[in-house]
Amino acid sequence: MSNKITIAIDGFSSTGKSTLAKQLAKHLGYVYVDSGAMYRAVTYFAMQNGCITNEFFDKETLINSLPFIKLHFEFNPELGFAEMYLNGLNVETAIRTIEVSNFVSKVAEVSEVRAKLVEQQQEMGKEKGIVMDGRDIGTVVFPEAELKIFMTASPETRARRRYDELQTKGQNVTYEAVLKNVEERDHIDTHRDDSPLVKADGAIEIDNSSLTREEQFEEVLALVYKVSKSL
Ligand code: CDP
Ligand code: CDP
Repeated sequence: MSNKITIAIDGFSSTGKSTLAKQLAKHLGYVYVDSGAMYRAVTYFAMQNGCITNEFFDKETLINSLPFIKLHFEFNPELGFAEMYLNGLNVETAIRTIEVSNFVSKVAEVSEVRAKLVEQQQEMGKEKGIVMDGRDIGTVVFPEAELKIFMTASPETRARRRYDELQTKGQNVTYEAVLKNVEERDHIDTHRDDSPLVKADGAIEIDNSSLTREEQFEEVLALVYKVSKSL
């Protein structure tokens, strides 16, 4: 297949976006960027540096610290995808905890944070042959993407999948806590003023509540071939 395209995958929490994006990138030889990992890394920084405690979120200090937050991805050949680095340290595991999940949507509401991350994401996507997943990829980061996917699934299905995943990683968390987190993040992500999660113009909606990983991959791969042939 000759024509490389930009693929934007948006949707609610734990809908299988990154699973799909990784499969597509591997199959097509594209670069995969997990934009959520960047918001998680900024949140982790804020927690490590006293900008976030159980009592308060010191937005001003976080905003003033933004020039000192350096993010990059590094491809791990053993895993087959790129891992997130914060100021030179691999934070791939540290950013996936329920504690980070519980704060990340608050951090993602801050316009200064979004502006910094969107700029870096657009820079990474200058060359076609990229698949990026998140909440605002088809609306803000790459509104001109040739293929936009909007993923949905019922909250219970999503929480069950995420809970099972956290269990296999040995994280001590209840199903109820995961469901609460998924629902709270969906609410904040869809109601914030700056770049709320909405289905982008031209996006194709996929409800994968009853689709396996392989089925959703086949469905979207067929769309990629169709779009790139038409260019
Ligand atoms: O848990 P899940 O993989 O669904 O989330 P994520 O992709 O890791 O994103 C974590 C959070 O970052 C989201 O709930 C959003 O609040 C925020 N986010 C965002 O605002 N914009 C993006 N493009 C990506 C993530
Ligand atoms: O990136 P996002 O938060 O949207 O979701 P994910 O991390 O790709 O998927 C969340 C969990 O659901 C993972 O454990 C996937 O393996 C699983 N999943 C599934 O069981 N069936 C699907 N059709 C899609 C994802």
